[in-house]
Amino acid sequence: MHELRISGLGKGFKGKTAICEIDTVLRSGVYGLLGENGAGKTTLMRMLCGLLEPSRGQILCDGTEISRLGGQYRRLLGYLPQNFGYYPDYTARRFLRYMAALKALPMDYAERRITELLELVHLSEEENKKLKTFSGGMIKRIGIAQALLNDPEILILDEPTSGLDPNERVRFRNIISSLSKQKTIILSTHIVSDIEYIADEIMMMKQGHITAEGTVEEIVASVGKYVWQCLVTAGEAESMRGKYVIANLKNQQENVLLRVISTEKPCAQAVHPEASLEDAYLYYLNMCDE
Ligand SMILES: Nc1ncnc2c1ncn2[C@@H]1O[C@H](COP(=O)(O)OP(=O)(O)OP(=O)(O)O)[C@@H](O)[C@H]1O
Ligand SMILES: [Mg+2]
Repeated sequence: MHELRISGLGKGFKGKTAICEIDTVLRSGVYGLLGENGAGKTTLMRMLCGLLEPSRGQILCDGTEISRLGGQYRRLLGYLPQNFGYYPDYTARRFLRYMAALKALPMDYAERRITELLELVHLSEEENKKLKTFSGGMIKRIGIAQALLNDPEILILDEPTSGLDPNERVRFRNIISSLSKQKTIILSTHIVSDIEYIADEIMMMKQGHITAEGTVEEIVASVGKYVWQCLVTAGEAESMRGKYVIANLKNQQENVLLRVISTEKPCAQAVHPEASLEDAYLYYLNMCDE
C-alpha cells in the first residue's frame, strides 16, 4: 500500500486558477472524484500522474516528492486519460502490445498480461479487430486494459464511464471491485451513480476546491438536514422552483411532490426524506461555498 500526500496543491493556467489549496491524503481504496465540468478533476489527476507541474504545493508518495521519484513512481502508476489517444488501424492486441512496450514491460510477461486483461474487459473475442471498428464503450475498455498493463498499485482513471451504456457501466464497476483492495484507485466522474457503490471515499470538487470528503455514508449524513420533501400545489411548486434547488419533481394527480435542497424549511409541511448521494452532490455543487 502506498500513501499519496497532497499538500497546499495549486495550479493556475495563465492567471486562471484551476486548483487551489488542496490538502488530502490518499491510501488504499477507491476514491471517487465527483465534480461538474471545469471543477478541476483532470488537472488534479494530471498532477497526480506527474504530467503537470503544480504551481504551488506538493505531492508526496510515501514521503518523497513524485517528481524526485521519476521512473520509480511511474512504474507504480496506471492512467486512463480523459481523451485517450489510440491508433485506429491497430488491432486491440497490437495496441496493448505497443502500450506494453512503451511501459518497458518484458515481452512474454506482456503477452500473458494482455490475454488476462482482454478477458477482464470482455474483449478476448475482438482482440484481432481494428480499433476503428470498436464502439466508444469498447475503446474505453481497451483504455482501462492499457492502464492495468503494469498491474499498477496506483490507478488513475479520468472519466472511465463516460460513453458506456448501462450494461457496460455495471461491468466497469465489477472490474474495479475485482481489483486488489491494496491498490489506490482514483476515478473521476460527474455521474453520481457510477461511484456510489464502488467508492470507499468520495471527494466532491467545485471550482478547484475539495468541498467535501468522506465515505458515502458520511457525506450523505452531512446533508440530511438540508434535504426536504413536500407535497404542494402546482402553483406553489412553480414559485418554489425559482427559490430553491429542486432535486426532483413528480406530479401526483393535481399536486406535485417536490424534493428540495435547502438550508431552511421550504414550507410548513416539509419533512426530511432519506438523503442520497445525489442530494449531497446538489448541495455541495449549488449551495456550499467551499
Ligand atoms: N491546459 C489548460 N490551459 C488553460 N486552462 C486550462 C487547461 N487545462 C484546464 N484548464 C482550466 O482549468 C479548469 C479545470 O479544468 P479541468 O479540465 O481540470 O476540469 P474537469 O473537472 O476535468 O472538467 P470536465 O468534467 O469537463 O472534464 C477549467 O476552467 C479549465 O478551463
Ligand atoms: Mg476532466
